[in-house]
Amino acid sequence: MDTLNLNHISPVWSRSATVIADHGEGIYLYDKNGRRYLDFTSGIGVTNTGHAHPKVVQAIQSQAGKILHAQANIVYHEPMIHLTEELSQIVPPKLDTFFFSNSGAEAVEAAVKLARAATGKPNIIVFQGSFHGRTHATMAMTTSKTIYRAGYQPLVPGIFVAPFPYAYAYGWDEETTVNFCIKELKKLLKMQTAAHETAAIVIEPELGEGGYVPAPNRFMQKLRQLCDENGILLVADEVQTGFGRTGKWFASEHSGVTPDILIMAKGLASGMPLSGIAAPRELMDKWPPGSHGGTYGGNAVACAAAVATIQVLREENLIENAADMGIVLTTGLRKLQEEHPEIGDVRGWGLMVASEFTTPAGEPWGERATAVAKACHEQNLMLLTCGAYGNVIRWIPPLVVNQSQIQDALQIFSKAITASK
Ligand SMILES: Cc1ncc(COP(=O)(O)O)c(C=O)c1O
Repeated sequence: MDTLNLNHISPVWSRSATVIADHGEGIYLYDKNGRRYLDFTSGIGVTNTGHAHPKVVQAIQSQAGKILHAQANIVYHEPMIHLTEELSQIVPPKLDTFFFSNSGAEAVEAAVKLARAATGKPNIIVFQGSFHGRTHATMAMTTSKTIYRAGYQPLVPGIFVAPFPYAYAYGWDEETTVNFCIKELKKLLKMQTAAHETAAIVIEPELGEGGYVPAPNRFMQKLRQLCDENGILLVADEVQTGFGRTGKWFASEHSGVTPDILIMAKGLASGMPLSGIAAPRELMDKWPPGSHGGTYGGNAVACAAAVATIQVLREENLIENAADMGIVLTTGLRKLQEEHPEIGDVRGWGLMVASEFTTPAGEPWGERATAVAKACHEQNLMLLTCGAYGNVIRWIPPLVVNQSQIQDALQIFSKAITASK
């Protein structure tokens, strides 16, 4: 395998494994030598329909034979039109208009530009620990780890950070944590960015890179109320939480809160580069034509993949499967927690699950989580870590995962915890 020359690839990509992936099927990845890995990363939450789902592959092949690039500023194309029809069936009804781009960060950028253009206000509030991307504006919105910002300061101004209700990290109960975070957010509006200069509050309904922490329903409902009272737009960054990952089409459904702008990417097209935002028509109408766009956004092949992805998620009941398998996974992890006290917390919605490692003194235990993830990898189970201290192992298998595959993964995980002590 290592006869291939890797020297021309930029080292800026940090990489959790040195595997050269050859092909994938369902939840499995294979290297050239036929070694099989249980992929509990989904390529960071992307391959929700499983690797190379035949229906998605077929849609891509068929569209590629017709037209690859039908540029959105020049022509319309059918895959995009079909995609907007499909999306209209799954997003909250009032978010009836769509804009497409290529990556998650680009879609966040689009949401921020739309919010600024539509409100005429400059500032954006984000939450501590959130990850919104690696472009300049999204880097300024990202506080999950200093690595994303160090060396690139000064950052884009106009971004303000409020505490996220991460109860386990504070060591408080949920009610105390929510009360504290709402109080701090209100203070931010009084002390740093007035409501009349705040365009939007952007939140991941389940914090992703920051540690896989679902935002309590009451917090989301309070945010909605605060936004409505102050003429601020509520933006849900569902780049990682979307497309069935949390057992609902979108994680904001858990609280019943409808955002003003919904951001999507990752699982949207099963691995083809596609992202987008959904917003009410009257909001989109305030976005001056020509003031935003992109050469490739809403690519025809990527849109065809997205249409097939939505159909597969629906036809194969993968969202229900995510909810059911999420229970199997969290139940299994909680059982392991009884045997391995270093697992301090198990949490998450659907198949977006965290196992957080904590020292006997109650501190984040990053080295332990890294050692366990490494030991799992040696046993052909791919897992990623997250959280500011890298002490959270995250569980994000493709949504096609079944019970026996989850048991396989849990068995490897348990052995890895013991072996890596
Ligand atoms: C919540 C969230 N927003 C935005 C992004 C950025 O997406 P991309 O890496 O496609 O630019 C990510 C990527 O992990 C994400 O998890």
